[in-house]
This record gives sequence, C-alpha cells and structure tokens, in this order.
Amino acid sequence: MKRDFLSVRDFTTNEIWETFDLALKMKANRLGYIDSLKGKTLALIFEKPSLRTRTSFDVGIQQLGGFSLYLSPNEINLGKRESVYDVAKNLERMVEGIMIRTYAHQIVVDMANNASIPIINGLTDFSHPCQAMADYLTILELKGGKEKNIKGLKLCYVGDGNNVAHSLMFAGAKLGVNVTVACPKGFEPNKTAIELSNEDAKLTGAKIEVVNDPIQGAKGAEVIYTDVWASMGQEKEAEERKKIFKPFQVNDELMSHANKDAIFMHCLPAHRGDEVTDSVIDAPYSVVFQEAENRLHAQKAIMYKLMK
Ligand code: CP
Ligand code: NVA
Repeated sequence: MKRDFLSVRDFTTNEIWETFDLALKMKANRLGYIDSLKGKTLALIFEKPSLRTRTSFDVGIQQLGGFSLYLSPNEINLGKRESVYDVAKNLERMVEGIMIRTYAHQIVVDMANNASIPIINGLTDFSHPCQAMADYLTILELKGGKEKNIKGLKLCYVGDGNNVAHSLMFAGAKLGVNVTVACPKGFEPNKTAIELSNEDAKLTGAKIEVVNDPIQGAKGAEVIYTDVWASMGQEKEAEERKKIFKPFQVNDELMSHANKDAIFMHCLPAHRGDEVTDSVIDAPYSVVFQEAENRLHAQKAIMYKLMK
C-alpha cells in the first residue's frame, strides 16, 4: 500500500529512527544512492514561497536519480482552477510522488486520500513535518548520533504556537524529547495538536508542555528554537504581532536562562531583530545552517522510504 508523509505521526517511532539512520548514511555518501529512484518524478506544488523546501526536494530527488517538476502558485490554483480530486487523478498518471506546500491542511489530506501515489506535506498552516525531521536529525547528529543521548532532553520552542511548533511537538513526543512551547496567551498550539502529542508522549515518557513565560520555558533547555511571529498568510497581522511577541524575542538575555551549552535553532527564514537577534543567530551555538542543510538529507530518506 502506498504511504504518505503528511505528519510526523504517519511514521512509527522506529520508522523515524530508521529514517534518521538512512539520512545520516546519505549525508556521508551524497551520490551513493543515485540509482534509488532512477527515472521517477516528484511533482512540487507550491502555493506559498520557499527557498529551503524547494531547493532541498529538487536537489534531493536528483541525487536519488529522479526528476522534479516545479508547479508554481499561479499554475495549479488547487481547488480553484481545478478540484484537488482532479489534480490528484491527473498527476498520479504522470509522476511517482507529490510534495505540496499549501494553506489548509485538508488539501494535503484530500490529495493523499485521492491519489494512488505518495503525498509529502511540504508545509501547511497546521504542520511542517519535513522541517521537524531535519531538526531532530540535527540534534541527533550534534549528540553523536546516539538515540539515548537525545531521549529526555528539553527543547523549548519560543514564539507562535504554529505549524512548526506542532511538528516539533509531534516528533518530540514520538522520540521521547521533552518539548516546552513558550508563547503569548492566545497564541498557544492548536488543542488537537496538544492532545495528539500527549497521546504519543505517554508511550515514550516525553513531556509536552505549554507555558506563557519565555524564561520559565528556557530554564533547563538544551535547545532553544524559534520561528517567525507571522507565518505565510498572516502578513496583515505582522505589525500587531510584533508588539505582542516582543517579550518572546530570543536574545542574549533569554539564552542566558537556558543550559550553558544550549544550541539555538530556527527553521528559517528568520526576521533578524524580531524573533531573534543577530547576536544569537550568528553565535557559535547557533546551528541554523546545519539544520537547513539537513532538510536535504532528511527528505532524501523520506522520499526513499515512500517512493522506492
Ligand atoms: N524552513 C523552510 O521551510 O524554508 P522555506 O520556506 O524557504 O522552504
Ligand atoms: N511558520 C512559518 C514557517 C516557514 C518555514 C510559516 O508558515 O510561514
């Protein structure tokens, strides 16, 4: 049966560790898997802008021997020019997989339900699972590649309880990583995302927590993570959000409350001077570019698992 990757929760804990293992092997030998997806095509549907997601999927599929097809926001107009069902039924006859970046999460769910080929979520308003896979791969790598070294550590996500926060919670819960989301009142993660994470956390012993005080969140954290205050599609709220989120800026002061060897992560793009200062994102403990590179390796392993 075909598999999709719409959420980190689509993989079992074992499958996530296996994916990391494969991703690290692929990273060590970039062209060693050049025949894996020989002749296969991945369609890339983008309804929002992208640098990392587009580049990493495009380069990734080529390093596995396949091809990509970029479909821009103006080309398909999912659900407007043509129904999601019709797009699925057309594309499944011509390509072997589809990556979608869109707004409503239901679009990727509908695409997965209607297409006979794997669907990969390249970011929706609800989640960003490929990002979380690259993020935990980065942490694993920094912890010497040992599962036991990342179980029980504390990651504090500071900022908006958004798509990136949700996927970090889902993956943390599956991997036994304690995830604290520190956000302003009214900007907490989605209730369902908290419930689902807690369900998975019961099995691994992870603690998923939401607080409204960034200092409380940062205390004892080995990883401090942030993201933009206004996500794609929320541009009109940006000015208002700047005021609300100001106390949640990741700066030297906030970092001083984390563990002394804490690392800083950001999915990027970053709005320097807003959610993070230059002094933090450019600090030696910032791993944002390693994290960005790992999108390539994590997604190659995901494509391999779904499309081989
Ligand atoms: N982190 C991330 O998804 O980056 P892009 O929006 O540039 O793809
Ligand atoms: N939360 C951000 C992530 C960008 C990679 C957004 O959705 O715009």
